[in-house]
Amino acid sequence: MYTQLQLRDSTRPPVNVATLRQMKEQGEKIASITCYDASYAALCDAAGADVVLVGDSLGMVIQGHDTTVPVTLEHIIYHCKAVAKGLFRPFLMADMPFMTYTSREKALQNAMRLMQEGGAKMVKLEGGAGQVEIVEFLAGHDIAVCAHLGLRPQSVHKTGGFRVQGREDAAADQMKRDAVALQNAGADVVLLECIPSKLGKEITAELHVPVIGIGAGPDTDGQILVLYDVLDITPGRKPRFVQNFMTGHDSPVAAIESYVKAVKSRAYPAAEHCF
Ligand code: KIV
Repeated sequence: MYTQLQLRDSTRPPVNVATLRQMKEQGEKIASITCYDASYAALCDAAGADVVLVGDSLGMVIQGHDTTVPVTLEHIIYHCKAVAKGLFRPFLMADMPFMTYTSREKALQNAMRLMQEGGAKMVKLEGGAGQVEIVEFLAGHDIAVCAHLGLRPQSVHKTGGFRVQGREDAAADQMKRDAVALQNAGADVVLLECIPSKLGKEITAELHVPVIGIGAGPDTDGQILVLYDVLDITPGRKPRFVQNFMTGHDSPVAAIESYVKAVKSRAYPAAEHCF
């Protein structure tokens, strides 16, 4: 029975946590992208993405909110179910929305729903050392976890906006300690958002689990971007780390493919995308 998945396409076996670890060890960059529906999921798969995230960024790019705070578990499950239908090879990660992991039991119950109902293979939650107990509990139940550090969009009302994090020495040292603590608690992947490239490089070198960055410089083990930024359909001012991959391409799949190739070849992110 375990052969069924492999038989679907033995030349492109599905990515799993072991694949991601191996990619880190072998220095192959992990190309990751967000996605919110089945049609685009099929394009992300065809374009060669390794990891697809059903991010709570859907609150901003799909629902039109200013932040990710209004996104609920039901929203993520709805979009995750759709994305899961369009994917075969990429590893499917789902965000745990705001306030859905405030206790160990709540986190476990909600992670279970993301996996059983949504089809997610890994859950992502935001936070530093304060989340160690939650990560340990989920990992203790064999749930694959990604810990999101740096700019944490669910906390913008507390931290004061979408700003680069870890610029000061004390904050950078704290982030390094948090990353190690979360890894030791059982996190399988660490995601770093909007931090200086130097800090992204140092954390990546210190951890044995893969590190995926967004605005965290060129030295993380992989990159992730919001699909709608790759396709240049997000209105308004773009963060510095965003590149419009539609330039020179006439279809969404060609743009996503160009993003994947740029990550793999280390052409993206360039100096102008970094802090
Ligand atoms: O929600 C999201 O899309 C994310 C990415 C920005 C990493 O967390």
